[in-house]
Amino acid sequence: MKALRADLLDFTAEPAWGEEAMAGVRWRPDHWLLIGDDGRIAGAQPGSQPLPPGCAGEDHRGRLLLPGFIDTHVHSPQLEVIASYGTELLDWLDRYTFPSERIYADPAVAAAGAARFLDALLAHGTTSAVVFPTVHKVSAEALFAAAHARGMRLIAGKVLMDRHAPDGLLDDPADVAAAERDCVDLIQRWHGHGRCSYAVTVRFAPTSTPAQLAMAGALCQADASLYMQTHLAENRAEVEWVRQLFPDARSYLDVYQRQGLLHARSVLAHGIWLDDEDRARLGDSGAQIAFCPSSNLFLGSGLFDWAAARAAGVAVTPASDVGGGTSLAMPRTLADGYKVQALRGVRLNAFAALHAATRGAAGALGLVHELGHLGEGTCADVVLWDWAHGPVAGRRDAVARGDVPGLAAQDLHARLFAWMTLADERSVAATYVAGEKRHAR
Ligand code: GUN
Ligand code: ZN
Repeated sequence: MKALRADLLDFTAEPAWGEEAMAGVRWRPDHWLLIGDDGRIAGAQPGSQPLPPGCAGEDHRGRLLLPGFIDTHVHSPQLEVIASYGTELLDWLDRYTFPSERIYADPAVAAAGAARFLDALLAHGTTSAVVFPTVHKVSAEALFAAAHARGMRLIAGKVLMDRHAPDGLLDDPADVAAAERDCVDLIQRWHGHGRCSYAVTVRFAPTSTPAQLAMAGALCQADASLYMQTHLAENRAEVEWVRQLFPDARSYLDVYQRQGLLHARSVLAHGIWLDDEDRARLGDSGAQIAFCPSSNLFLGSGLFDWAAARAAGVAVTPASDVGGGTSLAMPRTLADGYKVQALRGVRLNAFAALHAATRGAAGALGLVHELGHLGEGTCADVVLWDWAHGPVAGRRDAVARGDVPGLAAQDLHARLFAWMTLADERSVAATYVAGEKRHAR
């Protein structure tokens, strides 16, 4: 057994919105987190109590220990296009993203890219993710293999696209069964293998023929344990294009729903340009929306209405959407989420935000028995964070702690909110996956 000593924070339930109440917040300052030899959390005890005999302790007193973040929408081959200037979605795909994804046809590029991407996630404090590789089967294979080698929970699948993209990035539209065979083969190899799960991965409605969408829907209908991931209603020009391509559909969401692609394991990125009927259908289906604030700001896509989604019973999980998003760091994503919601007149409190990126995401993915919190028996996917990085955050944290004479100490929410707003990957001291240290600064 081993143990980590730090300030432990996680959630036992969804905190209230709109206020900073502590219900659902589990706060255990200066505690040992006990980790069994099986890589699972064995319990916790106050820092002052002696450890069980034979237990190796690592003392990180004064640091914050959180469950590893879960990034519910991110593109592994887009570290190459992050921070590309000057365009909205459709032009950004044509100018930057599609040309750069073509290099992932090469197995050596795919393997190196998968390792680079997953190591970057770990260095940013994210231990699990729902990931788009590329259309190339080898890119999905490489990603699963690299996640498996690191013991990470990964949900991914070969990207399906058979039209409206350049050569070298398309499945054969004349042979829908070929892409299906690739999917089936990957499902057999990786779905349920270690901590890997397969997601039927439709890039977005414009890049799949109706025949390919039908094939993808049939895969989902044949096996309810499969996930599905795609993009939905991100950008106004995209929504108009989908309306022209699918004139019979009631809405963009309906394109997916009528093909059997909308279900409790569907992760739909963005969902900015929806109407109430779409939100009601999403709520009924149990699908989740991955809210990608930094991407939505960077590409000028729009301001996601989290409150309306919530009112319709739709689960919302925060996501980086790198390379449309500009950072893999979930604290940055949450800080941008706060700003986007502020522009809608809504205040996203730190408890609600941190819950959504940990236990909330695990729950929406049906994985709360395995990750997203520090409950006994879950995998020890945990991250040690500095409470502050650099003099500005340091001064702010000193105020919150009550260490600045003349200024009153603040409550836990105020301290965590400042942390969430100012932290990034420089604040990550160490990352553990199933109890194994996989990154250290
Ligand atoms: N829609 C279709 N493909 C993409 C992508 O790669 N990134 C984003 N943000 N939106 C998309
Ligand atoms: Zn995306």
